Amino acid sequence: MNSATVRVPAKINLALGVGARRDDGFHPLATVYQAIDLCDEVHVSARDDDQITVTVAREIDQPEGPQIPLDGTNLAVRAVALLRERMGRPDLGLDLAIRKVIPVAGGMAGGSADAAGALVGANAVWSAGWTRDELTELAAEIGSDVPFLLHGGTAMGAGRGEVISPVLARGTFHWVCVTMPYGLSTAEVFAEFDRLRPDAPEPKVPAELLQALAAGDPVALGQALSNDLTEAAVSIRHGLRSLQHYGHTLGALGAVISGSGPTMLLLAESHEHALDLMAGMAALDTIADVLHAIGPVQGAHLV
Ligand code: C5P
Repeated sequence: MNSATVRVPAKINLALGVGARRDDGFHPLATVYQAIDLCDEVHVSARDDDQITVTVAREIDQPEGPQIPLDGTNLAVRAVALLRERMGRPDLGLDLAIRKVIPVAGGMAGGSADAAGALVGANAVWSAGWTRDELTELAAEIGSDVPFLLHGGTAMGAGRGEVISPVLARGTFHWVCVTMPYGLSTAEVFAEFDRLRPDAPEPKVPAELLQALAAGDPVALGQALSNDLTEAAVSIRHGLRSLQHYGHTLGALGAVISGSGPTMLLLAESHEHALDLMAGMAALDTIADVLHAIGPVQGAHLV
């Protein structure tokens, strides 16, 4: 195989429990991830030399969004460079062409998704033959969310988010993703969390959330959604608080910031309800876009 295309989903956090900063600078997390069908595509083609290049076509409306690095600091480039190193094949090279749909710095792990997609694609075009579990171990070195984006579905994340275990979830959930014209830096939101909550206790996943997922009950899920980074994100971007209230006012089953923000997630009862919520949100001029997405969906996979 000379080239391959990988589809890789965005992640949302249905619960994001955060504890006090560890000595290594990361925070202990107790989170429930869900992969949703807002997908980036990573096209991977083998090269004859040892260069690794990346290009990005942005398909999203994000006027104040941050630039995506196109050098060795790009997460997808770092991921395949690490794979090549561990394969003991520094002679291998490839071109990555990313079609970007997941908001940049939106709290939906867009950069990590591209890293996961690039790993799956490089594994195929370089005929590395690594198993999913082997790729997952490497993924954890790239970023806390990367293992989940290989896994997909609905899963618990422990450690700094990289220790994944499956969660029983019935049915399909309808989400409205309200994206912002700007991004938020994950590191900055965690630093604000440290300022606001230096003594945060060990985080736990709420039992009600797991029960709601097992029952496939969107009303109970809406009530159980939680995110310990909310205060920190709102402290940096005050408008997020009123946006969350507005989502509730419109009749969303739940409204929660995705990860470190700023994307706001509204849970809907059905596709029709999602369309109603989208119409209500679209009237706001402070937002960038409203997107419908369903979850759970599978993780990074070849198409
Ligand atoms: O793991 P990843 O590189 O995606 O994390 C980005 C940044 O988010 C880290 O540099 C760190 O500042 C913060 N982070 C954290 N605790 C976690 C995960 C991420 O403090 N569990």
